[in-house]
Amino acid sequence: MSDILVHTEAGITTLTFNRLDKKNSITAAMYATLADAVEAAAADPAVRCVVFQGHETVFSAGNDIADFLNNPPATEDSPVFRFLRAIARFPKPLIAAVCGPAVGIGTTLLFHCDLVYAGDNAAFSMPFVNLGLCPEAASSLLVPQMLGYHRAAEALLLGEPFMAEAALEVGLANRVLPPSEAAGYAQAVARKLAAKPLASLVETKRLMKKGNAAQVMATMAEEGASFGRMLGEPAAKEAFGAFMERRKPDFSQL
Ligand code: COA
Repeated sequence: MSDILVHTEAGITTLTFNRLDKKNSITAAMYATLADAVEAAAADPAVRCVVFQGHETVFSAGNDIADFLNNPPATEDSPVFRFLRAIARFPKPLIAAVCGPAVGIGTTLLFHCDLVYAGDNAAFSMPFVNLGLCPEAASSLLVPQMLGYHRAAEALLLGEPFMAEAALEVGLANRVLPPSEAAGYAQAVARKLAAKPLASLVETKRLMKKGNAAQVMATMAEEGASFGRMLGEPAAKEAFGAFMERRKPDFSQL
C-alpha cells in the first residue's frame, strides 16, 4: 500500500497520508508523490478541488526526521519545496480534514488550504525552534497574518500544540467535528464545490489571494534557504539526534 493514496472521483482529488505506523510523517518520496498529484490536479480541468486527509488519530507528524537527515532538501527542486510551491500556487479550492496531531508541515500546509475541518482531537504545532530550525511554507508570513503577532510568536517561538477549538477561534479551522465525521464532512463540502463552475471558483480564489501571492512565494524561498542551512547546524543535529535516541535535546551549549 502506498504511503500517499491519490484518488480522483467526481471532480475531487483526495490525497490521504497513509503511513500510520510512522504517524504519517512525510518522506522525500511522499513529497514527490504529493507534488505530482497536486500539479496534476491543477492541470486537469476535470478536477475541481483537492482534499487532504490523514487518519482519525493523526493527520501528520510532519517531516520524517530520519529521512530528512538522510535526504536533506538541498535545492529548490527538492520534493518538499516543489510540494510547497504547488499548494501555494494551487488555483482551485484546497480542503483539509485534520484529526489528531498535525506537526510542522502538517500545520503549515493548512495555511494554504481554503477550508479546514478539524476533529476535536486535532492538535496543531509548529515546533521548528525546538528542532533548531525556522518556519517553512511561508508560515513566518501567514501565521502572524492569521493569528496576530503575539499568538503567532507563541505558536512559532514556543512551538507548543494548540487544540481544535483554538484553531477555530483564530480562523485556522472552519468547523470542529467528532474525529469520525471530519473526513466525511470535508468530502461533502468538496462535493458542493465540485458542482460549482470551475472558472468562478478559480477567479474568486485568485482575487482573494492576489494581494499576498508574490510575498508568499518570496517568503517561502527565503525560509527554504535558511531552513536548508539550519538543518546542517549543531542545534538541528542535537534536536534530531535526541528524537532518534528518545531523549530530551540539550541546547545549553548552543
Ligand atoms: N519522523 C520519523 N518518525 C516519526 C515521526 C517523524 N516526524 N513522528 C513519529 N515517528 C515515528 C516514531 O519514531 C515511532 O516509530 P517506532 O514505532 O518505529 O519507534 C512511531 O512513529 C510512533 O511515534 P510515537 O512518538 O511513539 O507516537 P506518539 O503517539 O507518542 O506521538 C507525535 C505522536 C506525532 C506527537 C510524536 O511522534 C512526535 O512528536 N513526532 C515528531 C514530530 C516532529 O517533530 N516532526 C518534525 C516536524 S519538522
